[in-house]
Order: sequence, then C-alpha cells, then structure tokens
Amino acid sequence: MSFQTIEPAQARLNRSELAVPGSNIQMIEKAAKSDADVIFLDMEDAVAPADKEQARKNIIESLNGLDWGSKTMSIRINGLDTHYMYRDIVDVVEQAGSRLDLIMIPKVGSAADVYAIDMMVTQIEDAKGYKKRIGFEHIIETALGMQNVHEIASASKRNESLHFGVADYAASTRARTTNIGGVNPDYSVLTDPKEDNSREVHWGDMWHYAISRMVVAARANGLRPVDGPFGDFSDPEGYIAAAKRAAVLGCEGKWAIHPSQIALANTVMSPSNAEVEKANRILIAMKVAASEGKGAVSLDGRLIDYASIRQAEVLVAKANQIATN
Ligand code: GLV
Ligand code: MG
Repeated sequence: MSFQTIEPAQARLNRSELAVPGSNIQMIEKAAKSDADVIFLDMEDAVAPADKEQARKNIIESLNGLDWGSKTMSIRINGLDTHYMYRDIVDVVEQAGSRLDLIMIPKVGSAADVYAIDMMVTQIEDAKGYKKRIGFEHIIETALGMQNVHEIASASKRNESLHFGVADYAASTRARTTNIGGVNPDYSVLTDPKEDNSREVHWGDMWHYAISRMVVAARANGLRPVDGPFGDFSDPEGYIAAAKRAAVLGCEGKWAIHPSQIALANTVMSPSNAEVEKANRILIAMKVAASEGKGAVSLDGRLIDYASIRQAEVLVAKANQIATN
C-alpha cells in the first residue's frame, strides 16, 4: 500500500438514486414512498425555466413536510453558469437544510466550482447553526469535468460521490448519439470473414473509458462512483445490462429516472447470496492458509491470495451495510 491513506467519504447506501423533477408534486410524493436509497429533487434539467421558482418552493415544502424515512435526500441545483444557482442553494439550504443530506452539482468543471459552492454552503450552515455538514455529489458530464475529474474529486471534504451524466457528456464531447445511455450499433467491430465469408458484428460499450476514468478518480479519493441515467425506461433488460457493466467496473449505484428502475438498481447493486457465500469461503480458506504459513492457496481450482481477501472483504462489507440499513 502507499504511505498515503485514503479517507473514505461517509458510508451511505447508494445503490439506486431516484431523479425527481421538483416541479411535479405527485412524483415527489410518490418518491417518498419508494425504495430508493437516495433521492435527488431536481431543479436543473428536468425543470423548465418558467417552473424553476415553483420547483424550488415545492422542494423546500416537501423536504420539510413529507416523511422521507431514512432515505438520503439530495437536491440537484442549477449550473454555476446560471442565475438560478445561488437561490437554489440559499433558499433550500436556509429553509430546509436540516433535512438535506447532499447537494448534487451538475456540469461541474473544475475544483474552483466546488470551492465556490463549498464557501456558500459553509456560510449558510454556520449562520443557521446546522450541526450536520451537507455532502456533495458531482455529475461528471462535460469534457472539462472529465478532464479535471481528479482535482474535482479531491476539491472538498464534503465530496461523497461522482456520477456519470451520460446525456450531457455525449452532448459535450459531441458523441454521435441522441440516446440517454445504452449501446450504439456504430460502436462496434466487424470480425474478419470466416471460411464461409460470414462476419460478426461485436458491439462495444462506448462509455467504458469515461466510466472507468470516473471510477478511478472516485476511488482514489474515497468517494462513491455512481452510474447515471438510462433513458429507455421501457427496456428493463437493457437497464439491468447497463447497471451490471457499471457495477463490474466499480460503480456502487445507478440512477433511476423512472420508479420501475429502482428495484432493478437495488438488485444489481447488491451482492448476490452466491457472491457473499463465495467471499466468505475465500476468507475462511485464507485464514486456514495463514495458519499453515501459506500466502496463496487454491480454492475451487483457482489461485487465491492476499488480494483475494481484500476483494472478498469489500463484498462482505457491502452485504453487511445492506443488512444493517
Ligand atoms: C445527467 O444529468 C445526464 O446528463 O446524463
Ligand atoms: Mg445532465
């Protein structure tokens, strides 16, 4: 291990993160009864300019008035390049800050953006005498944000998670797609012709690099990496596949832009019984190995060693976190 230690952000379950437009009271009320781990009440892109003020008011009222149980509550503020942002922060944190756990910062571009919001939130918290510190979640969804993702990830002690905002990222990088997440037939390779001249098209994941880069920046700074939206809510299989590939790369959650996606995210992002059982067997096998003075042994015909202990511990810790939530 490096001599440099990584401070983990406050531990929270973040398997599903439900996006709820602040302008829609029915959706807000429904969200309060959902099984989402985290909910962000949106003032940004799901809200038309004419509705921004009302959305802010709805959010303040619902944060204070609805029973959100033990859910983690977040608000997505408008971007730093808009005049809505300062009121989003001042009004919501002043009037409903005690039931607010996180602020989601969209289109963050640099450490200076994080610094500016940190300063505002700190002043409001101090003025109001709040004891609890509000955390930050950053959406990495522009070329600038992705370029500076490492400095963003380490820019504030409030930072808790990084999110991949695939739709805006596609727009910012001018990727040739109008889908919100998912695969693209043009991102594929054609195999060489076989003897019978047939060829196969192998689809790839055009977001692999972006998600992986974000995961590295998040994990190197003790933050949670979370995959963003999958727009086609009538395609649960596509959603599950997208969530699984994000989990495989290290993400611990995915957005739900429709209530039907919450259970899918919660299931994919929870280790299965078989995974936990295997992890426990690895831990037991390595304990036995250690007592025999061995560093590496075989289990089910495969090599396991001290790195396997760390992998298994991550899984078991996640299962315990879910069980005790
Ligand atoms: C989320 O905000 C996205 O742009 O995908
Ligand atoms: Mg976006």
